[in-house]
Amino acid sequence: MSRREFLVFSGAATAALSACAKSPAAIKAGDAAVAAAERRRRNPQAPVREVSLTAGTVSLDTGRGSVTTWGYNGTVPGPEIRLTKGDVLRAWLTNQLPEPTSIHWHGLAIRNDMDGVPGTTQKDIAPGATFTYEFTVPESGTFWFHPHSGTQLDRGLYAPFIIDDPSDTERYDGEWVVMLDDWTDGVGEAPDAILKRLSSSPGMASMAGMDMAGMQMGKSSPLLGGDSGDVIYPLYFLNGRPPANPAVFDAKAGQRLRIRLINAGAETAFRVALGGHRLTVTHTDGFPVEPVTGDAVLVGMAERYDVSVTVAGDGVFPLVAMAEGKGAQALGLVRSGPGQPPPPDVHPAELDGKVLAVGDLMATAAVTLPSKAPDRVHQVTLTTDMDRFRWRINGRTFDKRVPLDVRQGQRVRLVFENRTPMFHPMHLHGHTFQVAGPNGAIGPRKDTVIVRPMEQVTVDFIGDNPGQWLLHCHNLYHQETGMMTIVSYVT
Ligand code: C2O
Ligand code: CU
Repeated sequence: MSRREFLVFSGAATAALSACAKSPAAIKAGDAAVAAAERRRRNPQAPVREVSLTAGTVSLDTGRGSVTTWGYNGTVPGPEIRLTKGDVLRAWLTNQLPEPTSIHWHGLAIRNDMDGVPGTTQKDIAPGATFTYEFTVPESGTFWFHPHSGTQLDRGLYAPFIIDDPSDTERYDGEWVVMLDDWTDGVGEAPDAILKRLSSSPGMASMAGMDMAGMQMGKSSPLLGGDSGDVIYPLYFLNGRPPANPAVFDAKAGQRLRIRLINAGAETAFRVALGGHRLTVTHTDGFPVEPVTGDAVLVGMAERYDVSVTVAGDGVFPLVAMAEGKGAQALGLVRSGPGQPPPPDVHPAELDGKVLAVGDLMATAAVTLPSKAPDRVHQVTLTTDMDRFRWRINGRTFDKRVPLDVRQGQRVRLVFENRTPMFHPMHLHGHTFQVAGPNGAIGPRKDTVIVRPMEQVTVDFIGDNPGQWLLHCHNLYHQETGMMTIVSYVT
């Protein structure tokens, strides 16, 4: 099927979804049920950990001169928050940006009124204002935080949120947090300008010709099943640094290390490998999986993969994050001995070996949801417009959404069906779902899952966290032009 036929098909298939049912009463962020869910989570003896964050301007060395961007507490990435499962976080966010902001604690099943979504769970935090986020930290693992306001995520406003579990018996000799990002602010088109240009662009149909050019430029990826994105970024960062000036991780031969990979990119998936090493995936999106070893790992926007590696010997090894299907990369170095650093465009053979992705992963028994028929099934059909850059869920953009109703205690199934020629990393707030693996196998627990073109992906979650929760594509430009809806708890 050609791309054009494909789009005609997808346009026709979504026209019929306008039936309007009278909706039952929604449980809102400020409702008693939300406070009650928090009370059940909270241990009255839990320590309260205080963190002070300021969103403001930051100057950053991009390797193409210093640029002024936006970040937390003067750094990109922002300061890591590290807590223990069960702690209470009290975070003050002061807004020194010229526009309203917010913080979303990505992946955490916290109380709904602290989820950081202006217009849905809280009011905008105005320039000059301070907002206090306070919630129980429910799970251990690798998480992160970012604004849920306009295109702010495509600047430097992101940081790791790592939660330890005291009963974790795994021991490592060292641990690194690696945040990946696609970078344009100050060196290319500004994020707001990208959004404006894309949203007034004629969309997929008339881009068909351009798309051929795009494919010749390498703007497609078999791993992602088609288009790799709409924005070719000038730079790709690893921990806020360009390939010409990479972050260096010091290690010793034989050490066993944990690397926590976090993709903070707005619209880029990364294929990550460490030259001279194989990677063993141990967790994704904070939750443990049966360990599986490969040469590289595919990390979609907002996904996290924890990998373990054993340092192979003395030397300098490239940690490469290829911007998947975009012909460029981010770079870090692992240094365990003397050696010449590799060139910024180094391409270790591991990148072309076995690339692990969601289909290779299985949750450990401890976190697998028992198999059970769902109480509620929601179809989540993903489409795009022929004639303009709009992305839709069940035929609708966010402003015209029909919420997906669920009730407390229900087992809810979401069936994602991608009828577009691009991949979408679909993210549900406030829950971690069980992904159904291929052929009835058990997949991993995740909060963000890549759905490739023509693919159907089924996930189940337990309705145990009342409130109003966003469900959206974590491609920022898809999200901002419509591919977002709400999972709404109702009474
Ligand atoms: Cu990273 Cu709406 O989320
Ligand atoms: Cu998308």
